Amino acid sequence: MAQDDLKRAVAAAAMETVEPLLDSKTIVGVGTGSTANFFIDELAAHKHQFDAAVASSEASAERLRGHGISVIDANSAGPIAVYVDGADEVDPSRALIKGGGAALTREKIVAACSDSFICIVDESKLVDCLGEYPLPVEVVPMARSLVARGLAGLGGEPVWREGVVTDNGNLILDVYGLNITDPDGLEKRINNLVGTVCNGIFAANRAGQVLVASAAGITKLD
Ligand code: 5RP
Repeated sequence: MAQDDLKRAVAAAAMETVEPLLDSKTIVGVGTGSTANFFIDELAAHKHQFDAAVASSEASAERLRGHGISVIDANSAGPIAVYVDGADEVDPSRALIKGGGAALTREKIVAACSDSFICIVDESKLVDCLGEYPLPVEVVPMARSLVARGLAGLGGEPVWREGVVTDNGNLILDVYGLNITDPDGLEKRINNLVGTVCNGIFAANRAGQVLVASAAGITKLD
């Protein structure tokens, strides 16, 4: 089965989980990336069953609006019932690496605003230990070198993702060579590097449920 077919299938499975939560007051949190895009397309068929969406990126907001779905700011949203998003890596404890699309900060904010977080992936994203995928870290531009030195001190090899500016006007460092055996601890340590806006380890806000698509069907990690 092609990877896009798996992404489409897991997005449809997420929609089945989300649909019972929808009513005229429901706010849905929506992630970023190709898998999240399939979920947005699923959501379009249900646009009259919920109030509005909060998007984790300008790109997702644009796609939602393109479907005629109302998009509101996280500050004016009440509680967000559910957040649905993809990931770059998922470990057996449902800790994640995210940020391949440079949207990690808004993704972490929307996840933190939400009552539940459903992560949707194809099986290629499952790992025993996070870190093979380079860890994205969003940094304030003037602190790029300072944070890079701090990340090197933690054992990583940071590489500036040149040409990329986040929706928040910041830069991304991709950190290679990390073997993340303690996602909770490393997430905190990186957050403590001055000039760091956010890092792509989602451990404090790990997914409550991960839906995984493979050729055999959909399985659930919870
Ligand atoms: C964007 C993300 C995405 O969820 C992650 O990169 C996975 O993307 P895709 O669904 O395209 O494989 O974190 O910042």
